[in-house]
Amino acid sequence: MSHGVFLSFEGIDGAGKSTHIEALASAFRAAGRTVVLTREPGGTPLAEKLRALALNDPMDALTEALLMFAARRDHLLQVIEPALARGEVVLCDRFTDATFAYQGGGRGFDTQVLATLERWVQSVDALPAGALRQPHLTAWFDLDPAVAAQRLAGARVPDKFESQPQAFFARVAAGYAARARADAGRFLRIDADQPREAVWRDLLAGVRGRGFLP
Ligand code: TYD
Repeated sequence: MSHGVFLSFEGIDGAGKSTHIEALASAFRAAGRTVVLTREPGGTPLAEKLRALALNDPMDALTEALLMFAARRDHLLQVIEPALARGEVVLCDRFTDATFAYQGGGRGFDTQVLATLERWVQSVDALPAGALRQPHLTAWFDLDPAVAAQRLAGARVPDKFESQPQAFFARVAAGYAARARADAGRFLRIDADQPREAVWRDLLAGVRGRGFLP
């Protein structure tokens, strides 16, 4: 049986990760793997309800962080852990790095508290005590917030985060950069300020280079 593979996809709103996640799912399927395509916040009926609240209702940063981690806990236990135990490939549109970037960086919330919640939520039965479930690889679509703002302007009705000012996204971007520095081996930085085909080429090369795809 194949080993389970857990990949997450991150970046500020407008960085353009979504189409590439679908394409990567096709590439894994073509290689004979079973793929679970999922997202955070969300991925289970309960977590999707929490997503609707977190993305639309005003609330303080701690409440927001708790909702993100509550959704994550349900998603991990109901979807991610079972899929990994079956040896499947989990492609997750955002995971905990987004909480450090948006709630920690964007909203300025205490990252020590986030790290505590991360330890509680990502301790799972399949791992030895003290180990945390983390993605094996995180594709980080890195884009200048000014370019992202241009891309988002005029696109669909923005949610609570998408309607934030550019300064918010500068802090989110800094939050991602800090997470990437702290765990460099896990991060695959993709320059998202390129034509779509070039971004796809870099993503595929990175995922192959780390040995996740033949
Ligand atoms: P996004 O992933 O961009 O989905 P869509 O393409 O449907 O808009 O939207 C999720 C939003 O939630 C995004 O603005 C980032 C935010 N978010 C957080 O603030 N914290 C988190 O922990 C996660 C997972 C997402």
